Amino acid sequence: MQLDWQIAPLSNWQADAVIFFFFEEPSEPLPGAKRWMTEKAGWMAESMALNDFKGKHQQVAVYYSPAGQAIARVVCVGLGPSDKFDMDKLRSVAAAALRKCRELHVNRPGLPLSAFEGLSLETPSALQEVLIGGLSGLYTYQGLKTRDIEPQGSPETLLILSEEEPDEVLRAVPFSASAIASGVYLARDLVSAPSNQVTPSSLAKVADRLAQTYNFRLHVIDSDEAGALGMGAFIAVSQGSREPAYMIVLEHTPPGTEEDRPLVFVGKGITFDTGGISLKPSAKMEAMKQDMAGAAAVLGVFEVLGKTRIKKRVVGILPCTENMPGGEAYKPGDVIRSLSGLTIEVISTDAEGRMVLSDALSFAQRYEPALIVDIATLTGACIIALGHETAAVLGNDDSLVERIREIGMQVGEKLWPLPLWDSYFESIKSDVADFKNVGDRSAGTIVGGIFLKQFVPREIPWAHLDIAGTAWADKDLGAIPKGATGFGVRILFELAIRLPQPDRTL
Ligand code: BES
Ligand code: ZN
Ligand code: ZN
Repeated sequence: MQLDWQIAPLSNWQADAVIFFFFEEPSEPLPGAKRWMTEKAGWMAESMALNDFKGKHQQVAVYYSPAGQAIARVVCVGLGPSDKFDMDKLRSVAAAALRKCRELHVNRPGLPLSAFEGLSLETPSALQEVLIGGLSGLYTYQGLKTRDIEPQGSPETLLILSEEEPDEVLRAVPFSASAIASGVYLARDLVSAPSNQVTPSSLAKVADRLAQTYNFRLHVIDSDEAGALGMGAFIAVSQGSREPAYMIVLEHTPPGTEEDRPLVFVGKGITFDTGGISLKPSAKMEAMKQDMAGAAAVLGVFEVLGKTRIKKRVVGILPCTENMPGGEAYKPGDVIRSLSGLTIEVISTDAEGRMVLSDALSFAQRYEPALIVDIATLTGACIIALGHETAAVLGNDDSLVERIREIGMQVGEKLWPLPLWDSYFESIKSDVADFKNVGDRSAGTIVGGIFLKQFVPREIPWAHLDIAGTAWADKDLGAIPKGATGFGVRILFELAIRLPQPDRTL
């Protein structure tokens, strides 16, 4: 769906429908809708008096105007009670309105800026969230179907209707909203696609496409190079698979930022996780195609960085491999020397994410990062602790953790902190190596974090996002359709925008 401005007096608006928001309580229409009804759509008062539409959250009613009007439909969408209203509701309401337009094949719906009056939100951010929520809610993945395909294609364009010339800030909103949505779409496409299509090689091709399009530097480290560098943990996980493994490194260094310390984003890219020799049960194993959702989120962020040309130096490091059993697979009991020099006793080959991430985190040090954020579908325990709508955030810097949590709340990607005290290290002490790759069953998500912490120097602010529960939605979440969510793209992008480039001397 394209986004376009239409700047004209209310009486000259031209669209296939116009969208307005309504609270459930009070039942009084918001000022924009009221003005529209007074000046252009007096007939609506009678229809609304029937009280079929109550403004309940996500309730949608379409009113049809009498013949001869420039705008034939009014899509009314409910925000729910005003005291329970927030950005999350606004995003899902936008999705509901646009899905209704799609269902009705409304090609060019209009969204008046005046629809935001009375919501007590800043118009630019409310508009941005409505646009992103709407685009996000319209996402479908049907590329592999050959029949029973639901017709798509509409809405073709969402018109943002304004009576006056928008200021510069407002003017830029549709562009950045669609850039962000395209990053989310890319991440979802990659996670939705099956593992016979999304392999480490195909992820390297995506990175190459991004590098060519946006002028990023790309370095794809193959197994030979990884071996020569000493990435023993990454190689260990990859050696059971016939698919070539790659550590993909993307670099966005806009002119003038060459001397800056970069933000480094590390994304787990296990394109399929069988568990390896510590084989997973077969029930629901197909879900393990999502185990590259961290890498997909980082690729998504690079799409957004490229489109928006944010002036921040950002490096993405994606350790990509399958985790397979086989004659050459790594085994429980093996001791692996990681790139850092630290030795790891493998207890479970299914704890492969932390293995590949450990080498990626060590490799990140070469970039003298200002900070590191890794994002990974790391532990089933995260789903037990926080469910499917909240991810875990852990790290060595409380203010970074808090910042990420706050951003997550604002953009609709919820996170909650877990502690990362060194006492948790006890459970991964090893008799034969520096430590083990798993502890007992307790505090699984924290122990995953403690393991990763061993590979990050204390002085570098680092956060770890465990997205095992949030990378995939088992049911429709309003602004997020069932399936791959693209979780993390928005948080990482916001972090890149908001964090001042720290002083090089830090
Ligand atoms: N990829 C899984 C974690 C996962 C589970 C992601 C469910 C998405 C949904 C990870 O590699 C894994 O297998 N973790 C183990 C760790 C354990 C061996 C310490 C787990 O969670 O059981
Ligand atoms: Zn695993
Ligand atoms: Zn995994």
